[in-house]
Amino acid sequence: MIIAIDGTSSSGKTSIARELGNLLNIPVLGTGAIYRAVALKLYNASVKPNDDEKIKQILSTTSITTKYDNGKCIIFLDGLEEPDFVLHSPHISVYTPTIAVNPIVRTFVRSIQHQEAEIHESLIVEGRDIGSVVFPDANFKFFIDADIKARAQRRLNDYTDQGKEFSLEDVIKEIEHRDDQDRKREISPLLMTSDAHLIDSSSCSAKACALEIANIIKR
Ligand code: DC
Repeated sequence: MIIAIDGTSSSGKTSIARELGNLLNIPVLGTGAIYRAVALKLYNASVKPNDDEKIKQILSTTSITTKYDNGKCIIFLDGLEEPDFVLHSPHISVYTPTIAVNPIVRTFVRSIQHQEAEIHESLIVEGRDIGSVVFPDANFKFFIDADIKARAQRRLNDYTDQGKEFSLEDVIKEIEHRDDQDRKREISPLLMTSDAHLIDSSSCSAKACALEIANIIKR
């Protein structure tokens, strides 16, 4: 069984997917982390996002594997665990969307996603194009969204926890820019498919949203 969870940036989809994984005892594959791991490899090799030949060459010798710890997906790049703080470092967050639009990268990541689905009887897959492109036949599809202020506040809280200072207005601009990049790209743009359930996380906790999703699945 595949449960696809897509949604806008900072909508809380990653936390919701994790809560859902705990509730249903199903592992969760966060596909953003795979794109980030690929970005890390290409960034360290100083690759330009449109250098298809170099990207092809590097990806042909790149291995990305996963391990699940209490449902949380841990990413290994060429056999080495990549912690969240590395994958989420600011330069990787800026570089990742620029390589995520490259069809060679998307094909590479899609094959990893399909491999993971083969290994697991049930899998929650969280990302941007899971219900639309990667698993169009997923058993359940959910699209998480929230109003821009709630999403910006969430990201601002993350920044504050990391000791970084930004204004709410700056973060709103950053999220609007990210939405634009995700929605307007030609390949696999972020979109809600007509068979997906919309979950509004503006004023509900990750746990409450996960419960709502679990109830829909059980019904
Ligand atoms: O969810 P995230 O912020 O960790 O995602 C990191 C980047 O990867 C983001 O720029 C969008 C891209 N991404 C994508 O293009 N398709 C996915 N299925 C998941 C993430």
